[in-house]
Amino acid sequence: MSDVVSWVVEGNVGVITINSPPVNALSAAVRQGLYDGMEALVADDAAKAIVVICEGRTFIAGADITEFGKPPSGAPLRDVQTAMEKSPKPVIAAIHGTALGGGLETALACHYRCAIPSAKVGLPEVKLGLLPGAGGTQRLPRIIGPKRALDMIIDGNPISAAEALELGVINHVIDGDLREGALAYAQKLIDENAPTICVSENEVDASELSDTFFDDYRKSIARKTRGFPAPEKIIQCIEAAVNLPFDEGMIVEGKGIGELMQGSESEAMRYMFFSEREVAKLPDVPKDTPLRDINSAAVLGAGTMGGGIAMNFANAGIPVTIVEMNQEALDRGLGIIETNYRNTQKKGRLTEEDVNARLALITGTLDYADIGDKDIVIEAIFENMDVKKEVFTKLDATMKQGAILATNTSYLNIDEIAQCTSRPGDVIGLHFFSPANVMRLLEIVRGAETSKDVLATCMAMAKRIGKLGVVAGVCHGFIGNRMLSRYSSAAQRLMFEGATPNQIDQALFNFGMPMGPFTMGDLAGLDVGWRARQDNPDLFPTDTSLPNIVDILVEQERFGQKTQKGYYLYEAGNRTPIPDPEVEAMIKEESIKAGIEQRDVGDEEIVQMALFAAINEGARVLEEGIAYRPCDIDMIWINGYGFPSYRGGPMHYADQIGVDKVHAAVEKYRQKYGDANWKYSKLLENIAKAGGKFADWKEYM
Ligand code: 3HC
Ligand code: NAI
Repeated sequence: MSDVVSWVVEGNVGVITINSPPVNALSAAVRQGLYDGMEALVADDAAKAIVVICEGRTFIAGADITEFGKPPSGAPLRDVQTAMEKSPKPVIAAIHGTALGGGLETALACHYRCAIPSAKVGLPEVKLGLLPGAGGTQRLPRIIGPKRALDMIIDGNPISAAEALELGVINHVIDGDLREGALAYAQKLIDENAPTICVSENEVDASELSDTFFDDYRKSIARKTRGFPAPEKIIQCIEAAVNLPFDEGMIVEGKGIGELMQGSESEAMRYMFFSEREVAKLPDVPKDTPLRDINSAAVLGAGTMGGGIAMNFANAGIPVTIVEMNQEALDRGLGIIETNYRNTQKKGRLTEEDVNARLALITGTLDYADIGDKDIVIEAIFENMDVKKEVFTKLDATMKQGAILATNTSYLNIDEIAQCTSRPGDVIGLHFFSPANVMRLLEIVRGAETSKDVLATCMAMAKRIGKLGVVAGVCHGFIGNRMLSRYSSAAQRLMFEGATPNQIDQALFNFGMPMGPFTMGDLAGLDVGWRARQDNPDLFPTDTSLPNIVDILVEQERFGQKTQKGYYLYEAGNRTPIPDPEVEAMIKEESIKAGIEQRDVGDEEIVQMALFAAINEGARVLEEGIAYRPCDIDMIWINGYGFPSYRGGPMHYADQIGVDKVHAAVEKYRQKYGDANWKYSKLLENIAKAGGKFADWKEYM
């Protein structure tokens, strides 16, 4: 017996219980306890079958990720599994919650598996940059076939108990109490003298596979898995399951996970796993802060952002009212929402009933009086301080006391907006990313007076509407856009020095970004930023040492994809950018006019200069207290800007390649280009000089 694993014999069934909160992960103590429990119950003649069950919220949720990279201790999981398979008495896993990764692999080494209907099972290791390393790649294909196993391990998403039953991953579903049901199931197996079924002894049914199956599969996932090493190794393991005996397949699997575990990609993805949980913890907001109820919402503006924001609430079952200035704009906005839902329905991802139910939750109005009783209002109107102030004055007069007043502004000062209300504590920034119904990030901007319960409520609400909430302080562009403007300026600089937009975009795409800054500009619409600048000239100080190419492009009605020309050309109905020699010539001409010396720019330099500009600004964001921690910055960049998760975000990437290297380059750029885009960061310097990492940034403040 141990603190985390105990066993008893009840009637003639041995029961091993794991109790290791929060998620019964397979720590050294749990593995050792399981091993000892198996040994004891196999030796105990009173036990004719053995049930493995967990206390708390879930069956084993996987290996203990905190132990990765540390020297091994306790019984190896594979030894525990061998003890289970070799047991002469039936071993039964009793599953509730989520049997994930090593948890499901442990269950697969049992002879039988039962679960309650709400349980889920899956092999999510790929999301940590790994592969199932405890027989998952060899046992699962022996139950559900190589094709289905490959899909399940490559996407990493769990399946329901009902689906698991249909596929044969579990053998029995228990309605009612799991422990009672599992004991009854064990008794039934004893009474029937049921055999001990070892999945490892099953044949793999490869009859469904064509000769080219694995190569076709590789091609089909190539785009989605670009840059991630785990999927290819998973395919190799499934190939081994098909072509080799079980034990040899296990060797391929063991080698595969060993290599992945050493790689920087998995290290970054494990960092991401913990960071996603860390950003939910707000250092100065107590965990038990009472939350306000959010049972209804209002959105101001049915434009690009307002429509998507409203969809998030409807998707979560929260009724939402959209306010517009005139009927035409309202009808247009509501029409776009319906089209979006219908398109999802056409793709089979929503049923007609789902769509109708969601649409029924979205109503429109032109009258602010209709939203006065809502729990939260999110303003998503034009980016103009005067207009926003006017609207917040009106909201202050209209909204009930206790309602949260939020703005989706990209750049404007939330404290200034809050001051035109009588309740600045209720005002907050909720910065959604476009398309707002798709992008996972919600940058939650905390004003100087935003109250703690408003902040905590918005964090909880983010989770409820499927977003990752990350808190930022007030400054121009908050965390994400502030760093993005440095990154984009560095790209512009390189463009004027001789790299083409296409070369820059390609270099950053090859680094792992979903697209480069010029493709992104064309997608968002060059006119959008241009208009924002006309409205707010002070907000967007341009780098006057560089020509303003956007103004020139916009004057020529080159707005980007929407006009089939921007930095690139586009064929009708096709989003693929085609480099345009005319624009390239124009850039060269402007550079020469501005006296910028032309040179050959290398791809490596492009990646370095753009990213280092962002990282340097990230360091400043940290030292100014705009971000709580480096992981907040990293989660913003991964979830809002598509930074490759296998690089962990810009600050983690800096730690991986060496902060001293970043600092040396930043210093060089500052000397060469001045400090408009390369402002000095004491934190960056301190960390670099000490040979430290952003992970330990507090030591260097
Ligand atoms: N190891 C260590 N800690 C873990 C963990 C794990 N496998 N899974 C979760 N935790 C920790 C979290 O970090 C969190 O800690 P915190 O409270 O200090 O922040 C706590 O448990 C609770 O986790 P969540 O906040 O995520 O709780 P939820 O209830 O929302 O979700 C869950 C529960 C669905 C189990 C989710 O935690 C999860 O998906 N966990 C990871 C599962 C996983 O990836 N398993 C595979 C591991 S790799 C493996 O098994 C390799 C094998 O093939 C050899
Ligand atoms: P948009 O121009 O597409 O939509 C704005 C809508 O607000 C229009 O339909 C307009 O009719 C309506 N409107 C204007 N004044 C109003 C009022 N007083 N009452 C009700 N409705 C009113 O603008 P977009 O792009 O949706 O931007 C909205 C806000 O979101 C801005 O603050 C912007 O900075 C921010 N934002 C925009 C992002 C983007 O990618 N477009 C991303 C993140 C934030």
